[in-house]
Amino acid sequence: MDLVKKAVALLKQGEAIVLPTETVYGLAADASNESALKKVYQIKNRPSFNPLISHYADIEEIKKDVILDSRAIKIFEHFSPGPITVVLNKTTSSRISDLATAGLKTAAVRIPNKKITLEILREFAGPIAAPSANISTKLSPTNKSHVEKSIGNQVKLIIDGGEAEHGLESTIIDLSSTKAILLRFGTITSQEIESVIKEEVFLKDYDGIIKAPGMMLKHYSPKCKLRLDTANPQKNEALLAFGEDQIPTGFAETINLSPKKDLAEVAKKLFKSIHELEDKNYDSIAVMPIPNIGIGLAINDRLKRASNT
Ligand code: TXA
Ligand code: MG
Repeated sequence: MDLVKKAVALLKQGEAIVLPTETVYGLAADASNESALKKVYQIKNRPSFNPLISHYADIEEIKKDVILDSRAIKIFEHFSPGPITVVLNKTTSSRISDLATAGLKTAAVRIPNKKITLEILREFAGPIAAPSANISTKLSPTNKSHVEKSIGNQVKLIIDGGEAEHGLESTIIDLSSTKAILLRFGTITSQEIESVIKEEVFLKDYDGIIKAPGMMLKHYSPKCKLRLDTANPQKNEALLAFGEDQIPTGFAETINLSPKKDLAEVAKKLFKSIHELEDKNYDSIAVMPIPNIGIGLAINDRLKRASNT
């Protein structure tokens, strides 16, 4: 049977499978099927209050499940398929299960930019929930072998899509109320969103309410320690370098995230490099400073959480 048909058949049977996307690999299940969604939460060991993103092939399918306003339409027309997720109010006839949205009235939706996954979504013709295909609080997978080492024996199918093109999870923008609120930094920046919707994008306010629960501080944790300075190299410590100048010495191994200081390259290589170093059993990883502009905001956000023990 061809791979697309096989994937769709498994999803229709209520199985959880792994799909590649342009951001990270996702643990996919039918977003309208409670028992399939339970498998996803259980495999990931994810708390049930942390809602999932539903994935689609096109805007027409999205419209059946959430209410699109003119800003959301502009965003999808401009950026999709691509690494952006929009939080919107569910329609009364929404197919997305309450389990996928953790009981919220809103749902997060996106159109991923990966050929085989789009074919599966088109053939499936319904919402597919897909959180990153890693154990909760651990590092997201950017290739098939990352998935295999963590949840590989718990899924019936892992589709290989090579290295994820962007390497960081999608940007999340909340348009469920009047203000546009950025809930998660990604490779699409708030400035790019502002220039498309022609209104201000606010950053999530830290009022104690966890609006995007996956944004809890402990997240993306590698097995080894990660620190955001490079003074005094430790025993059995590796370095993630940036640029070509003033690279500190004395580390057991150095991976350069981007000699030419290209932040998109850093994003693409970040999780992959940390996976590689944790597999080599270093005790810790030191990271050189990355400029906090553009995609750098998303990179530093992930690094800060990864360093939080
Ligand atoms: O790039 C991505 O978005 C990847 C790929 C696989 O598509 N998926 C992903 O899913 O990163 P996950 O589950 O790891 O992150 C989903 C995030 C969580 O932080 C969650 O709290 C937030 O989306 N989220 C989902 N539904 C929400 C909602 N209704 N309101 C606010 N935040 C929501
Ligand atoms: Mg995740």
